[in-house]
Amino acid sequence: MPGIVLTVAQQKGGAGKTTLVAHLAVAFQQLGRRVATIDIDPQASLSLWHEARAAAGAADGLTHSRIAGWRTAGEAERLARSHDVVLLDSPPHAETEARIAVRAARLVLVPVQPSPMDVWATRPTLKMAASEKVPVLLVLNRVPPRSRMVEELVAEIAGLGVAVAACRLGNRVGFASALMSGRSVTETGRRTRAAAEVRDLAAEILDRCDTPR
Ligand SMILES: Nc1ncnc2c1ncn2[C@@H]1O[C@H](COP(=O)(O)OP(=O)(O)O)[C@@H](O)[C@H]1O
Ligand SMILES: [Mg+2]
Repeated sequence: MPGIVLTVAQQKGGAGKTTLVAHLAVAFQQLGRRVATIDIDPQASLSLWHEARAAAGAADGLTHSRIAGWRTAGEAERLARSHDVVLLDSPPHAETEARIAVRAARLVLVPVQPSPMDVWATRPTLKMAASEKVPVLLVLNRVPPRSRMVEELVAEIAGLGVAVAACRLGNRVGFASALMSGRSVTETGRRTRAAAEVRDLAAEILDRCDTPR
């Protein structure tokens, strides 16, 4: 059976797409999955992370592919034959490429920061996924501690009929510093709150895709 293809998409830049892909890739691997990542963003931050990872000596069998957007469907299909999970990082504001990446996915993960502007800016991505008939899971990212506004926004999103992950990622500098060294928070600080958040989210996503853990 081919592996699951997960596309991380969000037209708003800086929402946390690359952060999510890199952290989930390592977390799925730590759950014993064979993982491949695909970077179709011309900014190539995921590829730079992967290079930093290799330079840091973390040659751990994580397959990485940097390709042009139009090759996405074929590459995702190819990698899904030999991996359990294929994670796709997509570019912001690139309608065609993002659409191809969304179409290739079993599930689209949409990181969103809890502010009204960010939630509004998410609409085109949700619309695109709906028109491609691919289910969406919103992932709240950079969530501040104890904020009533966050809960109000979650209620508003739920009203749109979109699934929201129960697991959220907090606003933690560890996410950025781990990536800088080519790692993930589950490697640099296994007992941190950030690491627990990523592990919980990875497990929630696998459950949602009906793949036994
Ligand atoms: N949960 C988080 N906590 C703190 N910083 C974060 C978090 N998620 C993302 N960031 C930071 O926000 C910026 C944008 O994240 P990035 O993953 O590059 O977004 P995108 O790929 O959507 O453009 C980066 O500097 C990243 O380190
Ligand atoms: Mg990015």
